[in-house]
Amino acid sequence: MSERWDFVRLDGEKATLVVALEKGGAADLVYLGARLPGREDLSALAAAQGRGRHESQPDAPPVPGLLPEPKAGWMGSPAVALTAIEDGAPIALATDFRVTSWEAEETRLAIRSADPRLGLECVQTWTLSAGDVVRARTALSSTHQRPFWVDRLSALALPVPPRFTHVTTFSGRWAHEIQQTRRALGAEGLAQGSAHGKPGFGGNWLILDGPDTGEALSAHLAWSGDFDTRIECDRPGNSDGRAILQMAPRLTPGEIALAPGDTYETPEAVFTIAPDRKVLAHNWHRHVRAERLATGSPGAPRKVHVNSWDALGVNLSEPALIALAEAAAEVGAERFVLDDGWFAGRRSTATSLGDWFVSRDVFPNGLTPLIDQVHALGMDFGLWVEPEMVSPESDLYRAHPDWCLHSESDERPTMRGQLVLDLARPEVREAVFAQLDALLNEHAIAYLKWDHNRDLFPVGHRHAQTMGSYALIDRVRAAHPEVDIEGCAEGGGRIDYALLERCHRVWPSDNNDAAERVRIMQAWSQFLPLEVLGNHVGPSPNPITGRTLDMDFRAKVALFGHMGIEADPRAMSEAERKTLAAHIALYKDWRALLHSGDLWRLDHPDPHIFAQMVVGGPRALAIAAQTQFSPQFDAAPLRLAGLDPSASYRVTLPAPWPARASLYLDQPERWREGLTLSGEALMRQGLALPLTHPETTWLIALERCEP
Ligand code: DGJ
Repeated sequence: MSERWDFVRLDGEKATLVVALEKGGAADLVYLGARLPGREDLSALAAAQGRGRHESQPDAPPVPGLLPEPKAGWMGSPAVALTAIEDGAPIALATDFRVTSWEAEETRLAIRSADPRLGLECVQTWTLSAGDVVRARTALSSTHQRPFWVDRLSALALPVPPRFTHVTTFSGRWAHEIQQTRRALGAEGLAQGSAHGKPGFGGNWLILDGPDTGEALSAHLAWSGDFDTRIECDRPGNSDGRAILQMAPRLTPGEIALAPGDTYETPEAVFTIAPDRKVLAHNWHRHVRAERLATGSPGAPRKVHVNSWDALGVNLSEPALIALAEAAAEVGAERFVLDDGWFAGRRSTATSLGDWFVSRDVFPNGLTPLIDQVHALGMDFGLWVEPEMVSPESDLYRAHPDWCLHSESDERPTMRGQLVLDLARPEVREAVFAQLDALLNEHAIAYLKWDHNRDLFPVGHRHAQTMGSYALIDRVRAAHPEVDIEGCAEGGGRIDYALLERCHRVWPSDNNDAAERVRIMQAWSQFLPLEVLGNHVGPSPNPITGRTLDMDFRAKVALFGHMGIEADPRAMSEAERKTLAAHIALYKDWRALLHSGDLWRLDHPDPHIFAQMVVGGPRALAIAAQTQFSPQFDAAPLRLAGLDPSASYRVTLPAPWPARASLYLDQPERWREGLTLSGEALMRQGLALPLTHPETTWLIALERCEP
């Protein structure tokens, strides 16, 4: 880096970011990592990273930096890809952006680059915010005389520091969300994206780390539509040893046209860096808590839900629902959520989406008697809707058959028997809003479960469809700010930070089988704090996996999240109901901590033991769940985390205890009284708990002792 460069430094709580900028040239990353001393000489830092030209490079080596372009020999994807029509034929425009100016504040950097020949200006804004999370956006404006199309605009282009040699990505399927794969970043790099109109069951986060340091860098596109994430590497097989991460919304060709005077701004990409993956999760959680969650009743205790779906499906009647509400209230539920099947002719999942009025067949006197009964039982009332969809068999569709996404050929391919409303059209949004607004005005509804059960196809405008969904949700929120909204898409098919800004919580999976759910919860909770992750006690046998599970196991697992019941307590034995009620009481006692403290993933040599703990102030609660049969008689001790090593803690195992496992507990009376141990001993040596048998879960409570 020559002397022409200027440097801008942004400092977070524990991280520092240094960018080099050259007027008339490029912007490049100099440093991203743990916070540097204030005295650090930034030009020396840049010089220490600088490389002379090697034999196999253009004479003026390209600096793809924060805005990669093909000019000067960069072979990867451009951050800005544009098409214009010349002599009746489409041509790709070759851009040449140069930095013109920048504004640097303590935690914000805005870089302006222009291509005067094409009449384009690009503004990239990076803001370092809560949790050391950088929020990055790109805006492209045109003063060009002729219109052209934006094929791609990266929200983020980030040169990946070479110490990050491995990448973890996430994929999933219905009921088996967010499976992770870690691999070395080879010359093939990474190309990942979605094409279903939503991020999909893996979300769109990634994590980069190295083989030995533990340090982790994670990035995400806060966008509920399709995404396009790439890492282009020329390490190790190629010449330069460089890797550049780019995140962009996936655009439909021809969708974003820029006329003179127009600006297109990308959604936000976010990234954060931390000394290890546990602290990385803290960064994301801080970000979500401070900057994303603002809807419904933030800060209020998260009520225990009972949801009618796994208990009743669409076979609804007022007496059956009231009976379910009564049974749930008895075990401690605080919010009754009426799921699918309550509206119009919806007696199966094949009809009536789009007709958001109360079915007179199911509720001859309307919804109010049920809601009154729910209130009388001390609960509030929530309702399921799927507003972005329409069934061919519906009044809405019969009146407006052209309101759904469809192709020129006029075909109407369905999925789950349904079509997608074209939310880019204001009149469609208006009609759906009017129905939801009336529903919320006419009934005491505290909560909407907002579902989305279909892929988007055929779609000529991915971007506008997602923007249309946001406009609809935002309008409902503005008109009914007190209503909590849950984001659901066949479970966890659409979970991202932009949706979360509009929601109170998300539904991580339809899979309520606790042996599966522990993994799913642990995977999502790398990016999302427990309070936004719905976690319900499902029926046994489980309707999706067929597995039968003990209530003690199901209830303990559900407690680590936003707890609910997705089963019919009347179908449970008296003993099961008692166990469930006891765990709901525990959840109520611990939820303030679980929903505000620091979550630590606990490592255990047995990969089938899922363990986490939440530490906040003087209290902490841990869970350790064994899902399979341990290869050892005595599972290795569970080592805790996040404690003050020099403080003493009183450790107890909150009852009820897992019946069989407690037979193997040494000195149970000592555990009942509580053991007092130092944080050091708890974190270094840990607790030897009986965790040998599948379906064993322990809760571990800690209270810091006064010195
Ligand atoms: C899919 C959701 O994920 C389920 O929880 C349930 O609400 C069904 N849709 C209802 O159709």
